[in-house]
Amino acid sequence: MPDTIHMDVPKSVAAGLVNALSFPAMVLSGQLRITAANTPARALFEIELAGKDFVRVLRHPDALDCLNRVVQSGEPETVTMELRFTTRRTFELSAGLITLPPEDIILVTLADVSAEIDAERSRSTFVANVSHELRSPLTTLMGAVETLQGPARDDPKARDMFLGLMANETARMSRLVGDLLSLAKLEAKEHVAPAGRVDITALIKSVIASLEASRADYPGRAVMTAAGGLAAVRGDADELTEVFQNLIENALKYSTPGSPVKIDILQRPSATPGRKDKLVVTIADAGEGMERKHLGRLTERFYRVDKGRSREMGGTGLGLAISKHILNRHRGRMVFDSKVGVGTRVTVTLNIIG
Ligand SMILES: Nc1ncnc2c1ncn2[C@@H]1O[C@H](COP(=O)(O)OP(=O)(O)OP(=O)(O)O)[C@@H](O)[C@H]1O
Ligand SMILES: [Mg+2]
Repeated sequence: MPDTIHMDVPKSVAAGLVNALSFPAMVLSGQLRITAANTPARALFEIELAGKDFVRVLRHPDALDCLNRVVQSGEPETVTMELRFTTRRTFELSAGLITLPPEDIILVTLADVSAEIDAERSRSTFVANVSHELRSPLTTLMGAVETLQGPARDDPKARDMFLGLMANETARMSRLVGDLLSLAKLEAKEHVAPAGRVDITALIKSVIASLEASRADYPGRAVMTAAGGLAAVRGDADELTEVFQNLIENALKYSTPGSPVKIDILQRPSATPGRKDKLVVTIADAGEGMERKHLGRLTERFYRVDKGRSREMGGTGLGLAISKHILNRHRGRMVFDSKVGVGTRVTVTLNIIG
C-alpha cells in the first residue's frame, strides 16, 4: 500500500524528533493520526499513543480547530486550553507543519502553564488587595483634609479630632507598607537558612513583656510554662520575635478581654534515631475560635476571618503570611487547631541546635 511506503520514512524521523524533546511532544500524520509520541507525552496521557487518532486522545474542540488551521495555512499556531487529567490544568498546545516529502507531518507540543497562570492570578489579586487596603485610609485622610480646610478650619475641638483620625490612618498605612516591605525581603531570602542561636524561652518572655506594655487589657493574661534546660534553636532572633509577637498578640486580641492565653514550650525527642530534637511551642487561647474552612487559608496575605474586627484592631492581615515565610526560612512548622466558641491553638515547631 502506498500509505505504508509513505509512512515509513517519516516514522523514524518522527520518533527522532519527539525523542529529542524533554516536554510532551507528538508527531501527527496529515490525517491527524499519531505517528510518534515521546515518553513525557505518554506519561501525561497514561496510554500508548502511537497509531491513535489525535482528536480522540485530546478531546478538545480548540485543539482540532488549531490543527486544521495549521494544515491549511502551513503557519505554526499556539492555543491555550484547560485539560482535565487528575486535576484541571492549563496547557499551551503548539503545532507546526514540517514538510518531509512525500508527506507533510505536524509536530505538536504541550506545555503545562498552570503554575505561570496561578502566579499571574495571585499577582493581580495581590495588587488589587494592596490597592484596596490603601484606598480606605486614603479616603478617610482626604475627607479629613477637606473638612479641616473648610468647615472645621476655625473649630479647635473638631481640628483635634480630625488630626487624631489622620494620625491613626497614616500609622495604618505606614504599618502596611512596613509589612509589605518585610514580606518582600523575606521572600528574597527564603532559601537562605538563618545562622543565629536563639533562646526561645527568653525571647517569648520579652515578647510578652512588650505586648503587656502596648495595651491596657493585655497585662497578666499570657502565661508561659517552659521545661527547664531547653536547648537553643537555630534562628534569627528578630524574625522569631516577629512570629511570636504576632501569634501571641492574635491570641490576645481575638479573644474576650481578660481570658487567658497559655504558652507552653517543650522539647520533643526525635522519633528517628540520629535526628535532632525539636522545640515545640503551643499558644492556646480561650477566644472565639475559627471554623475549619478558614484554617488552611490563614497564612494567605490579607486573609482575615472577621475583616471588620481585624481592621478595627489596626491589623494589616499580613501577620500570619509574614510568620509563615519566617518559619519556612527556619525550616519550621506552624499548625492551627481551632474550635468555634472554645478557642484556638497554634503549634510552632523549630529545630534545636544539637
Ligand atoms: N487566635 C486567633 N483566634 C481567632 N482568630 C484568629 C486568631 N489568629 C488569627 N486569627 C484570624 O486570622 C486572621 C489573620 O491573622 P494575621 O495575624 O495574619 O492578621 P491580623 O492579626 O488581622 O493583622 P496583623 O497581624 O497584621 O496585625 C485575623 O484577621 C483573624 O481573623
Ligand atoms: Mg496578627
